[in-house]
Amino acid sequence: MKIRKKARYVDPDLCNACEECVKVCPVVKPDEYQMGLSSRKAIYIPFPQAVPCSYILNMDDCLGNNPIACGKCAEVCDKQAINYDDEDEIITREIGSIIVAIGLDVYDPTEMDEYGYTRFENVITSMEFERLICAGGPTAGHFVRPSDQQRPKRIGFIQCVGSRNPKIGRPYCSNICCMNTIKDTLLLADHYPDMENVVFYQDIRSFGKSFEDMFQRSREAGTRYIRGLPGDVREDPNTRNLTVTVENTTKGKLEHHELDMLVLSVGVVPPKDLAKISGMLTLSKTSDGFFMESHPKLKPVDAPTRGVYFAGFCESPKDIKDSVCQAGAASSRSGALLNAGQIQIEAITSRIDETACKKCGLCAAVCPYGAIVWKKGEAAVVIEAACAGCGACGATCLFGAITMRHFTDDQLMAQVRATLGENPQDKVFCFACNWCSYAGGDMAGISRMKYPTTNRVVRTMCSARVSEEMVLEAFRCGAPIVLVSGCHYADCHYINANRQTVKRVQNLWNKLEKAGVRPERLQLEWISAAEGQKFAKVMYQLEEMRQAVTMEEIEHARQALKPKPKKAAKKKAEAAVAS
Ligand code: FES
Repeated sequence: MKIRKKARYVDPDLCNACEECVKVCPVVKPDEYQMGLSSRKAIYIPFPQAVPCSYILNMDDCLGNNPIACGKCAEVCDKQAINYDDEDEIITREIGSIIVAIGLDVYDPTEMDEYGYTRFENVITSMEFERLICAGGPTAGHFVRPSDQQRPKRIGFIQCVGSRNPKIGRPYCSNICCMNTIKDTLLLADHYPDMENVVFYQDIRSFGKSFEDMFQRSREAGTRYIRGLPGDVREDPNTRNLTVTVENTTKGKLEHHELDMLVLSVGVVPPKDLAKISGMLTLSKTSDGFFMESHPKLKPVDAPTRGVYFAGFCESPKDIKDSVCQAGAASSRSGALLNAGQIQIEAITSRIDETACKKCGLCAAVCPYGAIVWKKGEAAVVIEAACAGCGACGATCLFGAITMRHFTDDQLMAQVRATLGENPQDKVFCFACNWCSYAGGDMAGISRMKYPTTNRVVRTMCSARVSEEMVLEAFRCGAPIVLVSGCHYADCHYINANRQTVKRVQNLWNKLEKAGVRPERLQLEWISAAEGQKFAKVMYQLEEMRQAVTMEEIEHARQALKPKPKKAAKKKAEAAVAS
């Protein structure tokens, strides 16, 4: 692994943080750590608890690394700690495991114009509030409103800003904002007992240990909780006071609240570097944009890529306690792997028959883990320790050179034929991926949901394991309707293997159409493990479709989709590879 160690331009071993450089630096920039509420110089200590506690020089802000342009800091540094020619260092390390703990970003409420964050100075975010109330903040903990530096008397908090809002693409709960606001109201009540606090919320989620107690203490301290999210915020240009209009859904009436300051309790968003790390480590994301764990219940800190573990927010929004728990679990899992001596891997991996391999490299191109090594003119090789067993390669190979252990072509084909051996016209044939759709069917069952009894399910590890031949075979066996189902598009447990499913099903729809078979007879559905209800609903829909398929149509599909003679099929496969 290569690690970039960024240049500091100040030698931490020589710098004694005397501050002389800061005094002479002519560059003034907003201080990111203080949320732009105070300023810093181009040479600065990023935050009070920084280790090592010595200065760094931000070269983007500095007037130039040519000392003729400025060079004032170097002039006054007795220790000669400043080096304008410092460069990033690339460190190479051999590593056996990685813990991804890249944290979070907070939601920028600019787009929610109704709250006036960019228009009114006295509307701030919860992060800015933290800096204003902090003893190490820009006002040394004296809580003042930005417009006149006076102590506000009436403060409002709006919850769920950027959370639980599908309209802005953030349907998830950020998990921490309710308790953060409750903590803030207790702080205010403690520092300024005469201050009026009002919280606008849709739900208060205080489910952690002692959290409900904190919530009750906040109410007892005088904080008013109003159920309803404001629809409009206005400012009086003379007093700079704010009027918040909200529908109080408990009382069922419209209210106007006069406030001196408004705090937007902003949610969290996946960190901006997440996509980069995801590409580097072949990790998958959930539909919310956070990293997806290997299994939500059984492997909650493992990434689908072996040897990679998650800690903290990058996996999902969570509070400090949960982050600490997850970090402990991740380091234990990592330690167990590094100390194992020998590693046991799942037996469900792919194997390539070198003699049958036509050296086309298609399998390597579709492997989401990069577990297949292929060089032009050479047979592909599977790195078994890296193979996760999705089976996308096996379904892609046109020459039958890949065997996926426990889910071989022969085994799956035998299941198709056996399932449709008798009265196929009465059956809805389904391929379901192990992690989501099959589990969704299970959920429907254990929840005692009603659905038609005509479905027959064949399980594969991932929907990407289902080859075109398997689907065609089901039609040849007389299936009126075939369903290919898997995890939601961005939720595949094998990174993005189900993209291959989509491509394959689209190809099949074209093929069916050409053969005069109604493409609707092949369905593609994404059903998650929690969606028992959706599974049942889809089964009802498919049963309705099955009843509309005539015996003539079934017979036509049987004939029209008959396998081509071997020579022609081989030629076609070779042409497909060449293209
Ligand atoms: Fe469900 Fe890939 S694991 S579609």
